[in-house]
Amino acid sequence: MIRLDGLTKYYGDIRAVHNLSFTVEKGEVFGLLGPNGAGKTTTIRMLTTLTKPTSGRAWVAGHDVVAEPLAVKRSIGIAPQHLNLDGELTARENLEFHAKLYHMPRHERGKRISELLGFVELEKRADDLVEGFSGGMKRRLLIARALMHRPRVLFLDEPTVGLDPVTRRKIWDLIRSLRSEGVTVLLTTHYIEEAEQLCDRVGIINEGQLIALDSPANLKRKLGNFAVEVYHEGRAERRFFPTREEALEYGAEHARCKACDFSVRETNLEDVFIELTGRRFE
Ligand SMILES: Nc1ncnc2c1ncn2[C@@H]1O[C@H](COP(=O)(O)OP(=O)(O)OP(=O)(O)O)[C@@H](O)[C@H]1O
Ligand SMILES: [Mg+2]
Repeated sequence: MIRLDGLTKYYGDIRAVHNLSFTVEKGEVFGLLGPNGAGKTTTIRMLTTLTKPTSGRAWVAGHDVVAEPLAVKRSIGIAPQHLNLDGELTARENLEFHAKLYHMPRHERGKRISELLGFVELEKRADDLVEGFSGGMKRRLLIARALMHRPRVLFLDEPTVGLDPVTRRKIWDLIRSLRSEGVTVLLTTHYIEEAEQLCDRVGIINEGQLIALDSPANLKRKLGNFAVEVYHEGRAERRFFPTREEALEYGAEHARCKACDFSVRETNLEDVFIELTGRRFE
């Protein structure tokens, strides 16, 4: 459903995205992870036809993003990183406006709007002005709007940023139910747990380049499923091993001094990210 072939974007001298190539299958939830400025939003903007690539090509739902932007737009829904709802309209009016832009027949609009407002649990606020909504309510409305015209591919740029843990999990459930309906989802996130819980595969990008791509489980396994941290004089040294036994053995051997200590735990995706980029997630 999504294919990138050497996709590259320069803004003047700034190389925002460099030679990205990967595919996303139908019904897959694919996560793009990377530090601030890594090129995640730029990648989404190219895939959603909002920004032209400097070089390389990409296809969404079988359509070339440069040659067939309208066909791409018809197939996709977008929830951008920055909230772009109309605060002076109600939730319902925001959705109605979007439906008109997409030439949805009048008789379909009302039913679809009620269905989606129910889906994101905003039916009670349907006729309130959006400017009075909380951040989490706005995010949920943004997702409802992206789904309005039943897109086959959904792009979510940091869909749960700033949301409380309960609301975040509700959005995960929403995304899972979309996947079960065969919708393909490409999302970006800074939340490791989100990527681990939700994404079938993740691509880690750093300075515009793809540095790893696999399922969360495989990424962790490649690094070693167990992490040992040896503490010495206020510093921690971290190593990874395929088994808990090997990690324990290493810890016992290297934490011999009186002030030393060690711990063993399961490897997580944040470890993978730090090992690969030398940087920590926010
Ligand atoms: N319109 C623009 N004009 C000039 N430079 C831009 C523009 N948009 C993005 N950039 C640059 O491209 C690089 C990638 O930015 P991008 O917004 O894609 O990063 P990101 O991975 O989405 O970061 P974040 O996690 O902070 O959202 C950055 O160096 C940024 O300054
Ligand atoms: Mg971004």
